Amino acid sequence: MDILVLGGGGREHALCWKLRQSERTGRLVCAPGNAGIAAVAECVDLDITDVAAVTAFVRANTIGLVVVGPEGPLVAGVVDALRGLGIPAFGPTAAAAQLEGSKGFTKDLCRAAGIPTAGYRRFKSAASAHHYVAVHPLPVVVKADGLAGGKGVTVAETNEEGLAALADIDGPVVIEQCLSGPEASLFVLTDGKTISIWPSAQDHKRAFDDDTGPNTGGMGVVSPSPRLTDALRDQAIETIIKPTLKALAEAGTPYTGVLYAGLMLTPQGPQLIEYNCRFGDPEAQALMLRLDGDLVEILLACAEGRLHEAAASWSAETAVTVVYAAMGYPGAPITGTVIDEVEAAEALGVQVFHAGTRRNAAGKLVAAGGRVLAISALGHDVGEARSLAYAAIRKIRWHGGFYRRDIGRV
Ligand code: AMP
Ligand code: GLY
Repeated sequence: MDILVLGGGGREHALCWKLRQSERTGRLVCAPGNAGIAAVAECVDLDITDVAAVTAFVRANTIGLVVVGPEGPLVAGVVDALRGLGIPAFGPTAAAAQLEGSKGFTKDLCRAAGIPTAGYRRFKSAASAHHYVAVHPLPVVVKADGLAGGKGVTVAETNEEGLAALADIDGPVVIEQCLSGPEASLFVLTDGKTISIWPSAQDHKRAFDDDTGPNTGGMGVVSPSPRLTDALRDQAIETIIKPTLKALAEAGTPYTGVLYAGLMLTPQGPQLIEYNCRFGDPEAQALMLRLDGDLVEILLACAEGRLHEAAASWSAETAVTVVYAAMGYPGAPITGTVIDEVEAAEALGVQVFHAGTRRNAAGKLVAAGGRVLAISALGHDVGEARSLAYAAIRKIRWHGGFYRRDIGRV
């Protein structure tokens, strides 16, 4: 079967790496891909949020399955259009992707269904939220309602900071109460009928060690999450995931694909922080390392509404992924710097997934984005996986990058 993957980050490299291992995979195409993906798939230049461009490509080729990596094409309606053509596509429709596309939509759904989440108010504009933020008890959480590429959230310790965050938002906003507790990420696959529970993960969102510095898309991951016990996971499935899927099904917009719940583990039990309608990045890198099943069969079964037929099994080992980012990230990253000795890292038995990489004119690997590499290792426990991931990352010769030294330790 010929497969098209949309996206070009570390998540998509991990997906392509796993799809390539399936005997069912014929031609594997990735748009736009990156220098690492080019080793396992054919990279094509395509505007993946342009629904017409994606459907034209799929029609002109013999694509039997489309796997959507990032949220942009989902919210734009790529899955709706492909289904209209009878092409199996992994991911939710635009209506169901509102779970990530609009924080206000999700908060309203949670309120109506009694799903545990922080108290909130929606405002049509930043200006109309001004007074509310100025007098809100602290800390106050200020969020842009729409997609913001992981940068639309501020947890403000002062009302002035909250107002400054508000001033940066163009469009509707959601103001929330601040929850506290450890965070965990929970992943489930669903075809609208069957729910398949995937391993959990713990992200490290701040740029620097000891959870300091600005928020990023994620600087490293441990899977499974050391905090989400089976009992807490089951509680989150019953009180958060199932009522959400029920509400969407009752609204006539059933959810299909992977649902990624960001949870806060509070003394009152798990509460929903946010939903994403895709795999996490770098969570997918850790998950793919632990997956023993056939990813083509699983994603195709999910897209075709027969998820109950596809068995996923998981390595009991722990995965640790450490992100190697370009200096300047999450602000303006310095790109174009040369990266050497990736092979020496891989020789230790880790997977080095590429995110923002390309080859320069001389064929050298160079940084081409904020997050650049995701070094992913398995071990019998988190300590062993950490040791291996860090031993490998130290083999890489790159002067333009930085990474956190404490992934899996905090
Ligand atoms: P998000 O982009 O929604 O994942 O938010 C980014 C981060 O902001 C989360 O991982 C949390 O650490 C934090 N956050 C979001 N909402 C809240 C909240 N209501 N209370 C406390 N922290 C929050
Ligand atoms: N690592 C966080 C995310 O993918 O949203």
